[in-house]
Amino acid sequence: MDAASVIGCFRDRSIVITGSTGFLGKLLVEKILRVQPDVRKLYLLVRAPDAASAQHRVLTEVVGTELFDVLRSKHGADFNSLMKDKIFPLAGDMVCENCALPSSTIEQISKEIDVIVSVAATTSFYERCL
Ligand SMILES: NC(=O)c1ccc[n+]([C@@H]2O[C@H](COP(=O)([O-])OP(=O)(O)OC[C@H]3O[C@@H](n4cnc5c(N)ncnc54)[C@H](OP(=O)(O)O)[C@@H]3O)[C@@H](O)[C@H]2O)c1
Repeated sequence: MDAASVIGCFRDRSIVITGSTGFLGKLLVEKILRVQPDVRKLYLLVRAPDAASAQHRVLTEVVGTELFDVLRSKHGADFNSLMKDKIFPLAGDMVCENCALPSSTIEQISKEIDVIVSVAATTSFYERCL
């Protein structure tokens, strides 16, 4: 499979990504948005107590990082609206049943998603608690 066909696979697809605040997950989110801006939606499952906190974590720990500078300069004034159109934070936790997502959210995203990429992992002895 060549790079062009891999990139093509993400066109108009909705993807759930776990671990996006981490090292590899962040790289994955940036790369998908850079090489395939026609991806439909990226649902980012983030450990957070509520939707506002998940949104804040994504804005500060993912999209707001230096890693996104290439995208920021490429899209200029449209950067924020592109991120808003493509990125949908989900407050949850991988270790909980149904990732601690409400059943209405599970029902909604299960109709939409094409791919799940799980990069979440515990890489620290000092675990974050909700
Ligand atoms: N880094 C590398 O060079 C490398 C190379 C090969 C393989 N890997 C593997 O790739 C995986 C990720 O590595 P990484 O370096 O990206 O790790 P990392 O920087 O420590 O990121 C881990 C991510 O997983 C999330 N996470 C942990 N527990 C979670 C839970 N219960 N629910 C939801 N999210 C959770 C963390 O969220 P919080 O921000 O909330 O903590 C963070 O976003 C690991 O399995 C690692 O062994 C890494």
